[in-house]
Amino acid sequence: MNILAPSMLSIDFGNMERDLNEVYSAGANTIHVDIMDGYFVPNISFGPPVLKHVRRILPDAVLDVHMMVIEPVRYLEMVRDAGADNFTIHFEASKDPEGDVKKIREAGLKVGISIKPNTPVSVLEPLIDKVDQVLIMSVEPGFGGQTFMPQALERISAVRKIRGDVDIEVDGGIYLDNVKEVIGAGANMIVAGSAVFNGNITENVKNFCEILGI
Ligand code: DX5
Ligand code: ZN
Repeated sequence: MNILAPSMLSIDFGNMERDLNEVYSAGANTIHVDIMDGYFVPNISFGPPVLKHVRRILPDAVLDVHMMVIEPVRYLEMVRDAGADNFTIHFEASKDPEGDVKKIREAGLKVGISIKPNTPVSVLEPLIDKVDQVLIMSVEPGFGGQTFMPQALERISAVRKIRGDVDIEVDGGIYLDNVKEVIGAGANMIVAGSAVFNGNITENVKNFCEILGI
């Protein structure tokens, strides 16, 4: 099943409630929430209090949290209690990815593991049977509005070959004109920030949903 996960990084924070309600009622029931620490990536976004607010606005949405944070499990309970459903950590940010995956599962959340564009797909091999989703970054993490790196396509296919039934999420530079290729390579979860929140949100979501067959 294909999923569209609009990334809140590009939302109009002054009108967060209005825009979250708009994406949700247009057909996106998963919201991608980017938490950044200013160390793992050269940017700072927001933390658990904002996540809590999103949960209050959309009680039934799937909140897909992308932790761009060093040693992300330090915040596991806090993020879970703020309302997260999925907790995705970066392979590069963890001293013990296998141990962390276990802790996330024990905390009752869905587990995701992400790799940056230059990290070999092979690092996922010992982990892939233990996670619910793999997040392939198609830009260097940290900022919205960057250009999709086409090498991501073969990386998606490589992950799909390793495991047929894992959710493969792709994040960065996805627009209406390249999303088909991303799905064609084997992904089924599409993160889109700029392409959803710039312009007419309802139209953007509907156009994505049509291509994704949602
Ligand atoms: C970037 C974040 C993304 C970002 C994507 O590091 O992980 O989720 O919001 O933004 P777009 O879709 O604009 O590339
Ligand atoms: Zn993200």
